[in-house]
Amino acid sequence: MNTLPNQPDGSIALGDLEKAIRGADIHQPISRLIILENTHNRCGGTVLNAGYTRRVGELARQNGLRLHLDGARVFNAAAALQVPVNQLTEPADSVTFCLSKGLCAPVGSVLCGSKEFIKKARRVRKMLGGGMRQAGVLAAAGIVALEQMTERLVEDHQRARCLAEGLFQIPALQPTFGMPETNMVFVSLKDEVAKNASQIAEELFQRGIRVGITGPKTFRLVLHYWIGDEDVEKTITAFRDVLS
Ligand SMILES: Cc1ncc(COP(=O)(O)O)c(C=O)c1O
Repeated sequence: MNTLPNQPDGSIALGDLEKAIRGADIHQPISRLIILENTHNRCGGTVLNAGYTRRVGELARQNGLRLHLDGARVFNAAAALQVPVNQLTEPADSVTFCLSKGLCAPVGSVLCGSKEFIKKARRVRKMLGGGMRQAGVLAAAGIVALEQMTERLVEDHQRARCLAEGLFQIPALQPTFGMPETNMVFVSLKDEVAKNASQIAEELFQRGIRVGITGPKTFRLVLHYWIGDEDVEKTITAFRDVLS
């Protein structure tokens, strides 16, 4: 594995990718695969556009590599860009996406690729003990996720912006990255706040709000189907109370 730094927008610079592809050196592992993540969680739920993904696909092919897209949240990327999702997935040889998270199914992820690739993946899944027989009941929720939830993701993005605007006005808080591009709000405690993120999260929890902690002073808040306008207001008020 060769992990490369992300740019602030979640992309990996094409030059960095090119430099990391190893030549025919018997002392080195053989480069075979590039993996991208779209949207990029830890960069703030940022979106990789179709043009960038296509260029990485071309780079992969020119060098005899495959491209895998970790598209756990790729429908959020498509919604933010207002493009059909296949524009973001076509350059990749394989794609995974989650039916849970923003798409609201209780569980499940899907692996996509050529027939031959999926045949091999089924065997590997079996070898690893990952097969599941009575998965239909879960697949049914997955169908609802795909048919009814992708169109409404823009609502989560609007609410994420409302939440961010409200939180960023609280004097003790500051944006970790900037305004959200999709359904995630990353926000940090300013240095002068004596309490850390865990302590604040505990106080928020007592007010019925669960937030993710991504560092000693940072939070991640994620919008989805079950979070409405009132919840956004309640969250902003709770942060204000706890930090006053
Ligand atoms: C970016 C990203 N990739 C992959 C996964 C893994 O999803 P699953 O465990 O459903 O395969 C997650 C889930 O949390 C994720 O956030």
